[in-house]
Amino acid sequence: MHFETKAIHSGQKCDPSSGSAITPIHQNVSFQFESAEQASNRFSLDEFGQIYSRMGNPTVDHFEERMAALDDGVGAVALASGMTAVAYAVMNICKAGDNFVTSRNLYGGVSNLFMNIFKDYGIEARFVDHEDPENFRRAMDDKTKLFFGEVLPNPRLNVLPIEDIAKVAKDVGVPLIVDNTCATPALCRPIEHGADIVVYSATKYIGGHANAMAGVVVDSGNFDWSQNPDRFPMINQPDPSLHGIEWVKKFDKLAYLVKLRATMLRDFGGCLAPMNAYLMSQGLETLSLRMEKHCTNAKKVAEFLQNHPKVGHVIYPSLANDGTKELAEKQFGGDHYGALVGMDVKGGTVAGKKVVESLKMFYHVAHIGDVRSMAIHPASTTHSQIPSQERLKAGITDGYVRLCIGIEHPDDIIADLSQALDKI
Ligand SMILES: Cc1ncc(COP(=O)(O)O)c(C=O)c1O
Repeated sequence: MHFETKAIHSGQKCDPSSGSAITPIHQNVSFQFESAEQASNRFSLDEFGQIYSRMGNPTVDHFEERMAALDDGVGAVALASGMTAVAYAVMNICKAGDNFVTSRNLYGGVSNLFMNIFKDYGIEARFVDHEDPENFRRAMDDKTKLFFGEVLPNPRLNVLPIEDIAKVAKDVGVPLIVDNTCATPALCRPIEHGADIVVYSATKYIGGHANAMAGVVVDSGNFDWSQNPDRFPMINQPDPSLHGIEWVKKFDKLAYLVKLRATMLRDFGGCLAPMNAYLMSQGLETLSLRMEKHCTNAKKVAEFLQNHPKVGHVIYPSLANDGTKELAEKQFGGDHYGALVGMDVKGGTVAGKKVVESLKMFYHVAHIGDVRSMAIHPASTTHSQIPSQERLKAGITDGYVRLCIGIEHPDDIIADLSQALDKI
């Protein structure tokens, strides 16, 4: 089936008890066991099935099946937020004393998690420029557990060369985990380009209506964890947290996801609420339509801003002349460059803040991926906790204004931006 069809039909089963054609919201905590044997088998993971809504729930399962189908993964685990997804994806295979290599172009919250929070727990993130994939190889050592990058980095938009980094990852025997929040599976299926694991803030475009938080981890099942058991002891050695279970031996291609659900999710508890899973599944049904409109609108906005006298330069993949445009076209399928547009307004912080305050139709919010157009000044908000040197290296200048272009009529979007720029 094609993407649009899968987005509507995958994972969909009529509810057996009511015949409901849409997966209902299973707003419950526990599930009745048929026998003591079944209960015991479910706890030991000798049988898959519902136990308790922290680890799984039919409405959440439905959303997970849909995400796995759209990304061509072997499965998915849905979580409470994108931050939970990123944190668990890393912590599932990294412990104190380990490190991982990551692109420095990341959403500010993820950057802070990697730079400061993980550090306090003994996990080191090594930041590199992803433009040269060999930087990942240079930064690694025998304690490196994974490579990480954002497919369409928020907010610099320097597209990640997935295939080239995946080649290095394969060569050195570590998995490549990518955050595909800003491109979404409608534009890019990273597994097709060689990524092993894909994470999402589904709070953004997947939900699409700014009404619920969610995160997802999708696994391709392609990474061979047993090729180097000494590098990945957490997933290969007997795990005392579940009767000495050996994840890879028992679950093969599903090992990473089963472990994530049975340890990270069970023990940290960042589960997705059934109501939010329902909203996410609904959002997915229109994802490709919305992304098409987001992309055509954003391109028009970028072209308008490019010639505006108050704007120093515009950051948008179609306008780049450093190979980003071609990379976006290869990975996102033709004339699609996403909904995020960055503009470096002349006049630094003062001018940047002025534009954001002067917008009338745009929402001034710390969010992206909604049907509405939105704007924010990252240097004083989302990226303010990043040291200014690091912030500038990530391309966030003082006058940078991040726009996330919605699906309104493009003339209305441009009219609002025009009047706000006139206020500087
Ligand atoms: C690329 C990216 N990853 C992860 C996150 C975190 O997601 P959430 O806000 O759902 O926790 C965000 C949030 O903006 C993001 O933009």
